[in-house]
Amino acid sequence: MGKKKLIRFKANATFPRLFEPPALELLVKDHHLKGKWAQDFFGNDNRLTLELGCGRGEYTIGMARLFPAQNFIGVDIKGSRLFFGVTAVQNEKISNACFVRSQIELINKIFAREVSEIWVTFPDPYPHRAHRRLTSPAFLNRYVNVLNATGTICLKTDDHNLYSFTRTIAVENGLEIIDDTDDLYNSPLQLAMPQIQTAYEKRFLDEGKKICFLRFRLDREVMPLPKKRQAPAKE
Ligand SMILES: C[S@@+](CC[C@H](N)C(=O)[O-])C[C@H]1O[C@@H](n2cnc3c(N)ncnc32)[C@H](O)[C@@H]1O
Repeated sequence: MGKKKLIRFKANATFPRLFEPPALELLVKDHHLKGKWAQDFFGNDNRLTLELGCGRGEYTIGMARLFPAQNFIGVDIKGSRLFFGVTAVQNEKISNACFVRSQIELINKIFAREVSEIWVTFPDPYPHRAHRRLTSPAFLNRYVNVLNATGTICLKTDDHNLYSFTRTIAVENGLEIIDDTDDLYNSPLQLAMPQIQTAYEKRFLDEGKKICFLRFRLDREVMPLPKKRQAPAKE
């Protein structure tokens, strides 16, 4: 492991706004803040938003700055990336954001039905492994158990296949689509969006790619992927 990573991991262990629950512990016991993040950690009953696969946490921090009366939690498995988000939270004394280092597969052990919105920002598109996509039915059926009754999912991606895959799941399952564009920067939706760009988004824009955005209500479980769509996709 590189020296820089080691330094970041060591620093991570000292940050009070970074939770690193060991996976083996979560498998046997829920996180002690599950269902109580707003009251017991943030000390309020404000709306809670998650950013999943947050990387350096640009969205989590950007939204926390824009909306001080809401709570934000970024989740990612990579401690060396989370280091940047946690450092910003610490330096700027941002009191309405924190981070959790965990596999998103364990989200139901960490959160109960207390989340108003989930952002999935520029996730890996996994062109040949649909079941690994963070918006695949297996993941959505985890998210439905952490969202409150009106909870929504926001997907921001440069990958048109991932966008249309996710949109198809929403349509086929009768979920309410609230916002939908495959060209955000040429859409009126852009004006209503938080003006935040992650490092990945900036890179994709520099490459001339279009950005897709989808927001839908996830108020029920969705059907599993049919076998043919789990197989390597010719997309
Ligand atoms: C392509 S990066 C995007 C990072 C950030 N959202 C951005 O836009 O800059 C995808 C991130 O998702 C995280 N990730 C992917 N699958 C994950 C999983 N199952 N559990 C936790 N993190 C995951 C990776 O560690 C990585 O940081």
